[in-house]
Amino acid sequence: MEQKLKHVAVPSSEITSHSAYLSRRGFLKAAGIASAAAFLAACGVNVTSTPGAGSATPTVTQSPPVPDNAQGLAADELGSPLNTLAEITNYNNYYEFSTDKQAVNPLSRDFKASPWSVDVGGMVQNPKTYGLEDLLKFEQKERIYRLRCVEAWSMVIPWTGFQLSDLLNEVQPMTSAKYVHFVTLMDPSRMPGEKDPLYPWPYSEGLRLDEAMQRLTIIATGLYGEPLPNPDGAPLRLVVPWKYGFKSIKAIVKIELTDQRPQTMWNTISPMEYGFYSNVNPYVPHPRWSQASERRIGELSRRPTLLFNGYADEVASLYAGMDLRDNY
Ligand code: MTE
Repeated sequence: MEQKLKHVAVPSSEITSHSAYLSRRGFLKAAGIASAAAFLAACGVNVTSTPGAGSATPTVTQSPPVPDNAQGLAADELGSPLNTLAEITNYNNYYEFSTDKQAVNPLSRDFKASPWSVDVGGMVQNPKTYGLEDLLKFEQKERIYRLRCVEAWSMVIPWTGFQLSDLLNEVQPMTSAKYVHFVTLMDPSRMPGEKDPLYPWPYSEGLRLDEAMQRLTIIATGLYGEPLPNPDGAPLRLVVPWKYGFKSIKAIVKIELTDQRPQTMWNTISPMEYGFYSNVNPYVPHPRWSQASERRIGELSRRPTLLFNGYADEVASLYAGMDLRDNY
């Protein structure tokens, strides 16, 4: 996350054609957003300062809904091919093991992810400690998602997992609960990176309760049809595909419902760079680099980054009326 990336201009492919503009109008209607102007404001798009854009109309993809049973499919719903298992397990951000993406795999090889349990509590009617075996009883779905790291690289990953909403419905959040806080295992004897005093361990993350209940938010328990590999957060991790990858916290041991916005690790380290929302947004640059495009692992040229990582149809309504530049 400390890596410095060169500024990237918006490629011409991102400057919207008339037909894309018209379909975007359809999207705006569907999302219940009154006018293009309102949406521009909500996106935080500054017409005059959008880098390299002759026209500043944002591109919003209209995509089919993400299927629940994607087993055997070779591409996501936008037609992007899957990354290979070797790519997905050898280029990882997992600071509990290393800040070197290629060192995570060898350093996590001996990590024992079983037995495992997750405490689910806080503002819920039915607090419970779940063993991994209990969590595997929730309906497991096959979902192909794009993972877009805040560092501007991305992959397409075939996850197995269950909707977080299934778990939350079982523990029954109190009406006063507004947020969900997630915490990673703290055990420096098994996760040597946690001995590094530079970071406020344990890794933690948070979502608004309605974000946590969205159908795309899953707890992944596997990928490519196998149990979750150690470098990807075994035995279970959050996946929130419309947000930058750091929100998708690995090796979770605690889920707590609260009425206060939770402290999260990256937001504590650098609040200006890593906001609480961290929705993928090509129009809001990171203070040190552009978010307009990304490097898909395995591809040579960069591709434009999509608003909400291409999931706007399913999630934009969560942010209706919010200024996405203030709420980055
Ligand atoms: N979760 C924990 N506990 N520790 C981490 O360092 N890194 C995050 C996220 N979850 C991280 C984490 C970041 S920055 C990204 S981009 C994704 O995991 C990467 O997931 P992947 O390695 O499976 O591609």
